[in-house]
Amino acid sequence: MSGELSPIDKAKYVAAKRAAEFVEDGMRVGLGTGSTAAWLVRCLGEKVREEGMRFKGIPTSARTAELAREVGIEVISLDEARWLDLTIDGADEFDANLALVKGGGGALLQEKIVATASDQMVVIADAAKEVEHLGHFPLPVEVIPFGWPTTQALIEETLISMDVMGRQTTLRMNGDRPYITDEGNHILDLHLQRIGNARQLALVLNQIPGVVENGLFIDICDTVVIGYGDGRVETRDINAGTVQETQLDFVEDDNLFRDI
Ligand code: A5P
Repeated sequence: MSGELSPIDKAKYVAAKRAAEFVEDGMRVGLGTGSTAAWLVRCLGEKVREEGMRFKGIPTSARTAELAREVGIEVISLDEARWLDLTIDGADEFDANLALVKGGGGALLQEKIVATASDQMVVIADAAKEVEHLGHFPLPVEVIPFGWPTTQALIEETLISMDVMGRQTTLRMNGDRPYITDEGNHILDLHLQRIGNARQLALVLNQIPGVVENGLFIDICDTVVIGYGDGRVETRDINAGTVQETQLDFVEDDNLFRDI
């Protein structure tokens, strides 16, 4: 079954499988959103079912909550958890300082709240997500629906004085309607090409009325687990300054592949 996976899915899978080792019995764990995070949830579900591991999962979206329950993970809300030991999530881009662009899957608001409420954030990604400069992936900004075109105009005006290469912004659509987040908001995607000063941009965007949150995660992520299509996994810990390499095998009879 695993032979049918594309190299990119294999890369996501091995990153997720390695990161699942960070989870210990009794932890409160933030569960990210997106295709890589979905692999993580499946890997953790397998640990619950096969190894009897017990932990509480705090999902960052309705779809992650649904998958987590489906695979047997005990799900609790952030209100119940208050503070988390660990969050593991995907990213759309990461740089050498582990600054991230997130929100391609539309869940950046809950993802940022949950990651910020965690002692540790581990990002899982395939190697293509690593960039020298953030910004090639459009930066998602969650905005409230009320007056969103005005908010968009204010963002575009603000971008004029920012260190970015592109300034086009687009409203994310779901078919012929605006995309609606789990919090009932819209998303504006900022096509910046290159972000010169991510820290400044993140602060300035959040000053604009109507902006709820932006997809720049600065000083939140501690560790990145990078997967490759051949099963190699690199784990970089920014605080310890360590890089660790592992080789994972694809197990043919792995239950994880049952539903793929
Ligand atoms: C979800 O809102 C995003 O932040 C995702 O974590 C990010 O888009 C990565 O998704 P993939 O793992 O599907 O690439």
